[in-house]
Amino acid sequence: MQCGGSKNATLPVLASALAVSGPVELQNVPRLQDVDTMLELLVSLGMRATPTAPHSWTLHPPTHATLHADYRLVSQMRAGICVLGPLLTRFGNAVVALPGGCRIGHRPVDLHLRGLAALGAEIEIREGYIHARAASGLRGAEVNLLGSAGPTVTGTCNLLVACALARGSSVLHGAAREPEVQELAGFLSSAGAQISGVGTSTIEISGVDALQSVCHRLPADRIEAATLAIAALITGGQVTIQDAPVEHMQSVLDLLSDCGGQFSRTENGLHIRAADRLNSSSILTEPYPGIPTDLQAQLMALMCLAEGTSRVTETIFPERFHHVPELIRLGAQIQRHGNTAIVEGVSSLSGAPLLATDLRASAALVLAGLAACGTTEVHRISHLDRGYQQFDLKLRSLGARIARTAESAAGI
Ligand code: EPZ
Repeated sequence: MQCGGSKNATLPVLASALAVSGPVELQNVPRLQDVDTMLELLVSLGMRATPTAPHSWTLHPPTHATLHADYRLVSQMRAGICVLGPLLTRFGNAVVALPGGCRIGHRPVDLHLRGLAALGAEIEIREGYIHARAASGLRGAEVNLLGSAGPTVTGTCNLLVACALARGSSVLHGAAREPEVQELAGFLSSAGAQISGVGTSTIEISGVDALQSVCHRLPADRIEAATLAIAALITGGQVTIQDAPVEHMQSVLDLLSDCGGQFSRTENGLHIRAADRLNSSSILTEPYPGIPTDLQAQLMALMCLAEGTSRVTETIFPERFHHVPELIRLGAQIQRHGNTAIVEGVSSLSGAPLLATDLRASAALVLAGLAACGTTEVHRISHLDRGYQQFDLKLRSLGARIARTAESAAGI
């Protein structure tokens, strides 16, 4: 099974193309609803975007951008906020709607705004929009990106681009270390940015006058790869995932091995085989290199069928538990205490109608439905299409009995 391009690497790179002064060619861009929304947003800001192959785009950034990122588009996804840094640093002005995205709890942008203010931007929030101005350009500064729940990923992306074109040097303290941040830094460096310390929590940037034309290939999606691995384990099957970014999946592969998964590297990917027995585990989501919050729901679905008691603690988004009542509908035994869920493994789940509430919860419900006896209907799967390309078709080609119906529900 081919792993698609990474959603969360692609979105900030697409947004950052606004800061580049020449054409940008991107390869391995996944076909996802969020990518379409980001492209529509960029076009509304003056970008020309042309598909050049099934997963490749050539972008022609504007020389004079429209500086208003509209609510209609930005409210559809959190990553819409990623146009703020590029617009402000290249054009000195930006009006960006406060972003939307998955319903996974409170998602402030204070760290983004504090960081940009430290670079000299004047920022105001009026009528649901962020109004940011830096009439004489941004200037390098020391910025702290650490919030109470850890570093901010898209905040680090916004600041990286902003600092790349700011006058002088900047230091980002408490920077996110996620592979997606590393990818953006790689893209910017190929365009001429001067960045060091990427992959650590302190990143140093020396501002340059302009970013130049660049061609960049996006990496495979570590969350999709791990979701497919969990699909194999929850159904007692096996899968080979081409291009799985194994080097960025260590914590989750260690966890899945403890649960009984058997892994082997292939020439360009990963093979996963389920053992006879699925062990329970203790799962703690953390910033990279810890277990990603974007896998918490899928891992919880797996633990529902593991032998013994599992503990799932969510430290990034303490309210990200909308999948719990839906898993309980299938017969799972889960009790939630604040940001921890205690899961008593059961020997089988039984199919039921379910409601998907957010992207990763949708994937978790589909995985649980694959393992449940009888038919499961997952409603509102539009969330799934935001982040997984043709997930139903991929699962079907692996042997799952899954169909997308006209009412846009997935019956399994
Ligand atoms: C990114 O969101 C991802 N989205 C999320 O993936 C992912 O769950 C999240 O990082 C954590 O890994 C994209 O890359 C588009 P954060 P982001 O800012 O950047 C708090 C998915 O399923 N915080 O790193 O918005 C925040 O409340 C999505 O693909 C502040 O306090 O997340 C949270 O507790 C969902 N102030 C923590 O930091 C801020 O200004 C981490 O959030 C910003 C964040």
